Amino acid sequence: MGRMRYDEPAAAAFRTGRHVPVDGLAHWRAAVARHLAPRPGMALLDLGAGTGWWAQLFATWFGVRVVAVEPSAAMRARARLPRLVAGRADALPLAAGSLDAAWLSTVVHHLADLPAAAAELRRVLRPGAPVLLRSVFAGRADQITLLRFFPEAIRLVDDTYPRAAEVRAVFAAAGFTAEAGEAVAQVSAPSLAAILDGLDRDAHTPLRLIDDDAYAAGTTTGPVIDTMDLLVLR
Ligand SMILES: C[S@@+](CC[C@H](N)C(=O)[O-])C[C@H]1O[C@@H](n2cnc3c(N)ncnc32)[C@H](O)[C@@H]1O
Repeated sequence: MGRMRYDEPAAAAFRTGRHVPVDGLAHWRAAVARHLAPRPGMALLDLGAGTGWWAQLFATWFGVRVVAVEPSAAMRARARLPRLVAGRADALPLAAGSLDAAWLSTVVHHLADLPAAAAELRRVLRPGAPVLLRSVFAGRADQITLLRFFPEAIRLVDDTYPRAAEVRAVFAAAGFTAEAGEAVAQVSAPSLAAILDGLDRDAHTPLRLIDDDAYAAGTTTGPVIDTMDLLVLR
């Protein structure tokens, strides 16, 4: 099993609390378009599709045919798409050479067997098809504004998530070549206050210890701009 179960409560929290507003994703749309070179009818695998947020966006943005694979029944039940396929990265229920691209958004750190996932991606993708990984890698967690307030969370990422170089090495062993690695900005929320809305200040020691004015000043700053890494392998 991976690092956490996407059971009913986890899926409900993800569905309400984790989707970046579409108008904050212009840079992601442009970056994906650049590496994907989308064409109508192209078959794209969204692996670990969750609630189908990206699958739906890719179908709308690029007119591609998205095959969304997701192991958690609770996540699939909350999907916006008519159908997500039940399946896991290490045993994809897909034919060899049947896909033109793959997208994995914040999934690699959940995979208990990354080499098996890379081998499966190599099997189902046509030669030369790109794999686009959107992720927070070890050593990169301070790109996420909210996490900067929680050093323990930063440490957890650094200690337990794969580094980008490790992911590149695993995919190289499966026959992929790294093509690009870049940080892509997104507007995750209109303000820090909007992010903190669902958080309990008293549950977090550093937020308790600053005075109310300092807390209020911190939560009324401007747009919260984050970057995450895009790794492209082919
Ligand atoms: C953080 S969520 C990301 C969901 C979606 N990609 C997104 O960005 O909105 C991680 C997803 O990876 C899925 N996952 C975990 N282990 C997996 C595996 N072995 N194979 C495929 N997906 C997996 C989880 O069920 C969950 O839906």
